[in-house]
Amino acid sequence: MLQKPRGTRDFLPDEMERRRQVEGQMRDSARKWGYREVSTPEFEELELFTIRSGEGIVQEMYVFEDKGGRKLALRPEITAPVLRMYVNEGRVLPKPLRWFYFADCFRYERPQKGRYRQFWQFGVELIGADTAMAEAETIMLGTDLLDKSGISFSTHVGHLGFMRKMLSGLDPGVQHKIRMHLDKKDFDALEAYLDDLKMPDLTGSLVNLVQCRTLEDAFAITGEMPDKERIIEIFSILDAAGVKYTLNAGIARGLDYYTGMVFECFAQNLGAENQVLGGGAYRLAHLFGGDDIPSSGFAIGFDRVMVALGDLPPQEEMTVRIVNTPQGRNWALETAKYFRESGIRAEMDLSSKSIGAQLSNAGKSADYAVIIGEREAIARVVMLKDLKSGVQQEMSLESAATEVFGSGAC
Ligand code: HAM
Repeated sequence: MLQKPRGTRDFLPDEMERRRQVEGQMRDSARKWGYREVSTPEFEELELFTIRSGEGIVQEMYVFEDKGGRKLALRPEITAPVLRMYVNEGRVLPKPLRWFYFADCFRYERPQKGRYRQFWQFGVELIGADTAMAEAETIMLGTDLLDKSGISFSTHVGHLGFMRKMLSGLDPGVQHKIRMHLDKKDFDALEAYLDDLKMPDLTGSLVNLVQCRTLEDAFAITGEMPDKERIIEIFSILDAAGVKYTLNAGIARGLDYYTGMVFECFAQNLGAENQVLGGGAYRLAHLFGGDDIPSSGFAIGFDRVMVALGDLPPQEEMTVRIVNTPQGRNWALETAKYFRESGIRAEMDLSSKSIGAQLSNAGKSADYAVIIGEREAIARVVMLKDLKSGVQQEMSLESAATEVFGSGAC
């Protein structure tokens, strides 16, 4: 038996309907904030992703050569594609651009619960606004979307300015390593690394900074720093908007394009893979031949939100099964059409079996049966059977539709 590729999933209808429901809520909320949906190709030139992050990232991607010898990659994320699209087609549009997307990404990772090789992101990019309000808006929107989804989560907000100040003067490679250790909260590895570099004192102040929970404490460690006013303003907007968050000056984020505010959300009931959102302020467009436009955004790991939500009850939708005979066929077709046009889900029995056999099959999955034989066809009526109670009654098509509609969610 052939199996699906490692790290991918199939979704049966119940699950797919639940996913669509949550996705629909996110779309509606994003639209209310003025964001509009965009879509980019599933694959891009490999260079789009290596230009900022270097060749190392190739290990984590699905990379291939097409028949024309082009080096392509399945998108591991959607911020770079959206900014490429902005450079190609969005530069003349009035700023700021508020765009969102819901799409699948591909990463060659070791699969586990909540970590897949194909996964979906609901993301937002706010392009062309460089204010505290813009950076705060992405945090407010991200937390609003997660709140509405119904999961319990916590939000950590940081700013790369803290680390920039603490690590200024160090070689960029060293800075990167230190940030990665801090991001993983691997303080032992950090200490060993800094001991090797003969900078043992730095470990203490970095660990203290990461553990600060107020801006005052953080600035007491960093001293004056260029982004101070901006940081204070972002946090005061968050406070005014009632966003619940924790300051975390150690957030480094795995991707290399962030420049200022960074934030992450963690679901409370997930295991190791509990980060359900990641984002921040960044600059990318200039790398793709555009202007150096300030942007901010985030992406929600949609699959992790679904895992955190657990088993939701499937959406209620009444189903009517049209039980039919050859003599009643044309009237059965008309009946089905009428139901569908009235907003009721109507399925034709396709078996050509006896009415009894069709009814017993209908009992397995439908709520109502509409029985149409020759007599009903001639009289242009239907026999509506409630499959739960077993009660059946002859009536007009209009009355049958009204009865089904009145009985539950259609
Ligand atoms: P990211 O943190 O790499 O950021 O991914 C965003 C979210 O996608 C993560 O927080 C996680 O929930 C989910 N995710 C990542 N990898 C996997 C995986 N293998 N399986 C399941 N879920 C996963 C970005 O991608 C940035 N583009 C976000 C952004 C947008 N920054 C600015 N704008």
